Order: sequence, then structure tokens, then C-alpha cells
Amino acid sequence: MPRRRTAILISGRGSNMAALLAAARDPAYPAEIALVLSNKAEAGGLARAAAAGVPTAVVESRAFKGDRAGFEAAMAQVLAEHRIELIALAGFMRVLTEGFVAAWAGRMVNIHPSLLPAFPGLDTHERALSAGVRLHGCTVHLVSAGVDEGPILAQAAVPVRPDDTPATLAARVLAEEHRIYPAALAWLAAGRVRVEAGRAVIAGAIAAAGALASPLPVLPALSTQR
Ligand code: GRF
Repeated sequence: MPRRRTAILISGRGSNMAALLAAARDPAYPAEIALVLSNKAEAGGLARAAAAGVPTAVVESRAFKGDRAGFEAAMAQVLAEHRIELIALAGFMRVLTEGFVAAWAGRMVNIHPSLLPAFPGLDTHERALSAGVRLHGCTVHLVSAGVDEGPILAQAAVPVRPDDTPATLAARVLAEEHRIYPAALAWLAAGRVRVEAGRAVIAGAIAAAGALASPLPVLPALSTQR
């Protein structure tokens, strides 16, 4: 099966992009990263992509000042020039219009740093700490019209520790983002994802076992602490 030509859309440092590039170095990986596209010329990920020998492009969203349709038309042209079939959003900080999302329905994925549907939007780690949740994590989902909505492909959970700051929690979540995103993109590129009644079904996925509890449910009698 030919590898699906995939564009990664970024706005910043591009650590998820780097994880996808690393996975796609394996010729057996079903997606080929054919383009890294940024809406900011200063995005750190661009240099990283270029160093990896991947074509890069910039469509400056600033240049379109509120003209989202114009910005997206410019992006669509670049995507067409590179014969892109799939899009992976990786820290891409622009909200896409319904028209763009519809054009890429079932062919565009996003990574979000929370266990959706909890904490859509920005500042997810701060909000998770404020809410006092004991488990936090990340989600890969197909992109649909609502921000951080769409059928979920994969999630990973991490414990929240009492001494966590947004930065320490973000780092723990990010490590899991780098594990689940390459897997989820591979499922999509291999044609293993279908959507039934608004939920994603992944052919041949291995169901996880076990559980993560946080804090560890140690009985008082066994605990060294009162
Ligand atoms: C990640 O936390 C991702 O989940 C969110 O934006 C951040 C991007 O980080 N959408 P990076 O640019 O991939 O390092």
C-alpha cells in the first residue's frame, strides 16, 4: 500500500512533529511526512523539519488579519501543491473554519493535552491542577467542527502529583503525546479507522488492560503515613 502523503501543521517548537517524523523514518510506517506547514515563520519546528530533510512551508496567518477563509485558501493551495492526503495538527494554534474542517473530514487529526472531553481549549495543565483531578493526560482525535471535539482515536493518562506545577505536569503529559500520536496517525494512514455513530472504531487495535489509580490506593493499615 502506498504511504499516505501527510502534512504536519505547527505553530511552535514541534516536539510532536519530531515524534511523527521519527516514526515515519521507518519505511513500513503507513504515513509519509511530505510537508511541515507553519502559520508562523518563527516556529522552531521548521528548522527541525528542514534538518530532517522534510519540505517546509509558511503561510503567515498574521498577513490575513481576520480573513480566515483567505488564510485557509492559501494553506489549501500549498497542501494541494504537495499532493497532501492527510493532515496532522501538532500544536497548530489557529481555529479552522467549518469549511476547511469539512473538506478534510476523516483525514485530519489533532493532539490535545488533556483527557477530552475534559479541559478543551487552552491552559489545560493549569486547569487540571486547579480542578484537583488525580489523572490527566492527552487525546488524539479526528478533527470536527467544534474546537477539541471529534471522534477520539487514542488517549493516555498520567498521575497528577501533589507537588506538580503546570510545567512538570505538561512534561509528563508530553512524553505520552509523543507515544500515542505516531500510533494514532499510523492507524488513520493504514485505513484502520472508521467512524460509527460519532465514535471512532480502530480495526485490530489491542485493548489495554489494567488500571492507573492516583494516588495509589494503599490501605491506611499498610501505609507508613498517618
Ligand atoms: C502540545 O502539548 C499539543 O498537545 C498541543 O500543543 C502542544 C504542542 O507542542 N496541541 P509541540 O509543538 O508539539 O512541542
